[in-house]
Amino acid sequence: MMEQQAARKQKSTTQVSKEVEVSSDVYAQSFRLIEDLQSVGINMSDIKKLQEAGLVTIGGILQCSTRDLLAIKGMSEARIEKIKEAAKKLDCRGSAFKTGNEIKERRKNVLKITTGSNALDKILGGGIETASITELFGEFRTGKTQLSHTLCVTSQLSYSMKGGQGKVVYLDTEGNFRPERIEAIADRFGLDADQTLDNIIICRAFSHEEQMEIVKPIAALLADVDQGPFRLLIVDSIIALFRVEFSGRGELAERQQKLGQHLSQLVRLAEEFNIAVVVVNQCMADPGAMSMFGKDK
Ligand SMILES: Nc1ncnc2c1ncn2[C@@H]1O[C@H](COP(=O)(O)OP(=O)(O)OP(=O)(O)O)[C@@H](O)[C@H]1O
Ligand SMILES: [Mg+2]
Repeated sequence: MMEQQAARKQKSTTQVSKEVEVSSDVYAQSFRLIEDLQSVGINMSDIKKLQEAGLVTIGGILQCSTRDLLAIKGMSEARIEKIKEAAKKLDCRGSAFKTGNEIKERRKNVLKITTGSNALDKILGGGIETASITELFGEFRTGKTQLSHTLCVTSQLSYSMKGGQGKVVYLDTEGNFRPERIEAIADRFGLDADQTLDNIIICRAFSHEEQMEIVKPIAALLADVDQGPFRLLIVDSIIALFRVEFSGRGELAERQQKLGQHLSQLVRLAEEFNIAVVVVNQCMADPGAMSMFGKDK
C-alpha cells in the first residue's frame, strides 16, 4: 500500500508552468482512488460499476447516500453495505470526531491563493482559501469574471509568489471565458501564456442539469494524478442557468433546493481535493427593477 502511495506521489509531480516544478504531496494524500477497494475485499466488477456511475474516490462513495448507490445498475442493498464498510476502512478522513488541534493540523494543508491585489488579499486574510468555497457576488459588470480570470493565472504561480502551483477547472455556464484575457494576465505575472492556457480546463454547461451532472466527470479529472494537481475550480456563474430554467416565485423553492444540492457537491470537491472553489453569483439590489413583466417576476 505504501508503495502504491509513493508511486502515486511520484507520478503526480507535474510541470505546471515553466517556472515551477510542482510536487503535489498534499494533493495526492488528500484522497484515495476507488481501485484501492480491491485491497479490502471488493471485487473489480463492482468497482467497475461504481466507476461507470462516475464515482472515482473512496470519499465520493462515503458521501453518496444508499439511495443514490441503489440507483446504480446491478447494486443490491447488501452489496452497498459491504462496499460502504470496506470504504470506511480506507477512509483517509479518519474518525468523525476530531479535536480542535487535529483540525488545526489538518488546516495546515490549506493554501491561500493571491487575488493579484494586495488590498483584496488583506481583506481575505491572505487570499482565496483551498478546501472551501468562496463566493464572488456583485451586480453585472462589477468585475467578477475578470477576477475569475486573474485567479486562473495566480493559482498556477509558485508558492513563493503566493500561488497554488496547480491547474484550474473553469465551469463556464455563460460562455464568458476569454483566452486573450488569460494571455494578458499571464504576461503580467511573467508566465508563459501558452502553458498557462494549457493548464486551464474549460467545461461548458448549457442547462442546470448539465451543470450538476458535470460535477462527476470533474471529480474524475481532479482525481487523475497524471493530470493534476488542480488547485482551483471556478463556476462562472453558479446561478445563471438556474435563473433561466426556474421562473418566478412559484418555482423558487425547487430552484433553491437544487442549488443547495449543487453547492454541497462543490463543498465535497473542495474538501476532498483541497482545491479552492470559487462561485460567481450575479445579484441585483432590486430584482423588481429588472423585471419586464411586473414586480413579482
Ligand atoms: N482588460 C481589462 N482590464 C480592465 N477591465 C476590463 C478589461 N476587460 C474588460 N474589462 C471590464 O471589466 C468590467 C467587468 O466585467 P466582468 O465581465 O468581469 O463583469 P461581471 O461582474 O462578470 O459581469 P456579469 O455579471 O455581467 O457577468 C467590464 O466593464 C469590462 O469592460
Ligand atoms: Mg461575468
